[in-house]
Amino acid sequence: MKGTRDTCPLCGRTFEVLTTKDGKRIIIRGMCSWDKDKVIRFYEKLSLETIYTRFFSIIRYFEPYVNKLIKEGAFVIVAEDADTGEIVGIAEAIPQGEVAEGGIVVLEEYQGKGIGMAMARALNRVLYERGIKKVVGYILPDNIKAFRLVKRLGGRLARYYESMILAEVPVRPPEEAS
Ligand SMILES: CC(C)(COP(=O)(O)OP(=O)(O)OC[C@H]1O[C@@H](n2cnc3c(N)ncnc32)[C@H](O)[C@@H]1OP(=O)(O)O)[C@@H](O)C(=O)NCCC(=O)NCCS
Repeated sequence: MKGTRDTCPLCGRTFEVLTTKDGKRIIIRGMCSWDKDKVIRFYEKLSLETIYTRFFSIIRYFEPYVNKLIKEGAFVIVAEDADTGEIVGIAEAIPQGEVAEGGIVVLEEYQGKGIGMAMARALNRVLYERGIKKVVGYILPDNIKAFRLVKRLGGRLARYYESMILAEVPVRPPEEAS
């Protein structure tokens, strides 16, 4: 319920309000447990191609995944369209010691507007505050958009597997991570 303490560690934190070149106002904030239905609706709106690019399989029921994020206290950032109230992007990090495993996805029609970068900046800030040193994530070998994001964040493609690449992104002082 709104206003009560939430199990999601970033609930209640707004990191940025971004105005895109085409005039959309996007709120970059921490996810709360009461966002659950909106978050599920967001995942259900993604194309199968985007789902596969993010999860490497076709998922149709996202409730177990969202429940897991909430239960495990993952650091989850959402991008919310201020006009529609709908969630249009999610970035999450699940820490294990000084490393966190990260994932990010933006609704197709909202891609290429700086929303991915803004969520990554917010996540970097949070992980820096918690002493986490790097984020690792898997990407498909033909995922040019993700390569560009990793590069822009000062990261690198660290290991090549047959069907996957392991990307590593250092967590930096927030003032250096633009
Ligand atoms: C990867 C992803 C999260 C990037 O989010 P985004 O909001 O589009 O990214 P931004 O607008 O902040 O831009 C980041 C970079 O990607 C580039 N980019 C974004 N959309 C692009 C497009 N359609 N074509 C080419 N480059 C693109 C931007 O130009 C920018 O690069 P630059 O700084 O070198 O110019 C998004 O494309 C996505 O959701 N992809 C599907 C899921 C996925 O691949 N997740 C990563 C694996 S976990």
